[in-house]
Amino acid sequence: MSKDQYLSGKVAIVTGSSKLSGIGAATAIALAEHGANVALHYSSNAAAAQEVVNKIKSFGVQATAIQADASSVDFGTALVSGTLKAFNTKKIDILVNNAGTAVIHDGAAEVPVDVWDNIFRVNVRGPFLLIQAALPYMSSGGRIVNISSIIAKLGSYMLPVYGASKGAMASMSSALAEELGPKGITINVVSPGPIKTDLSMQGSPVAARLERNQHIKREGTTEEVAATILFLSSPASGYITAQNIYVDGGINNP
Ligand SMILES: NC(=O)c1ccc[n+]([C@@H]2O[C@H](COP(=O)([O-])OP(=O)(O)OC[C@H]3O[C@@H](n4cnc5c(N)ncnc54)[C@H](OP(=O)(O)O)[C@@H]3O)[C@@H](O)[C@H]2O)c1
Repeated sequence: MSKDQYLSGKVAIVTGSSKLSGIGAATAIALAEHGANVALHYSSNAAAAQEVVNKIKSFGVQATAIQADASSVDFGTALVSGTLKAFNTKKIDILVNNAGTAVIHDGAAEVPVDVWDNIFRVNVRGPFLLIQAALPYMSSGGRIVNISSIIAKLGSYMLPVYGASKGAMASMSSALAEELGPKGITINVVSPGPIKTDLSMQGSPVAARLERNQHIKREGTTEEVAATILFLSSPASGYITAQNIYVDGGINNP
């Protein structure tokens, strides 16, 4: 039986949605199941992204896959113009900044400056540029969801740059909420704990520390994160903005 089509006719962009195993693809699928047309974004995994496109088209909505490097200065404009062209539209309703990169280091002394810069470009500047490029096409009812991480709150000596970048993304979201609220556009953050994807750190000292703080002692699923993003993208969340929702089995509240 088909699901309630409350996103019918909406245009969504989900970055980092190239892999069926990832949070982005699970989100794109959840939005599409409720009627949204979805522009998937990938960086290197073209074939995998095409698999997600095919799955989404089977729901009877439109889907396209657009390549863009989140560290480049034209990331936002490339993705927005590609989306508008693919769907022959002049509007964007939902933007999910999910693409992200993480590098583990053995302490601060091990962090090269070019790695610092690249992580901040992909995890902070890219999402900002995409929001900047999309806003002229968004109107009242628009939804922006930025994917941060429990590491932004808890910290980890092995992820100083990643944690700092995800914290910056959350602060940026609060700042933009003040500007976008009067326009009827909400912006929220979803902060996952350990989720079973290619970025899973299961077995590492990072995961062991998180697990000690966890009330629900398991990795989360991509569908559990996607369900929260779907809610924050839906008409049901119209009075919720500037929030940071942890999908982490309780780690954030040890
Ligand atoms: N898994 C976890 O435990 C966890 C926990 C907290 C937060 N998160 C966050 O959740 C988000 C999704 O991660 P995931 O776990 O689902 O892992 P994933 O499947 O590996 O997804 C990462 C995505 O980011 C894209 N990406 C990486 N570098 C990029 C770049 N330079 N330009 C553009 N796109 C780039 C990848 O694209 P290609 O594959 O095409 O290269 C991929 O689609 C990330 O922001 C991550 O930080 C994950």
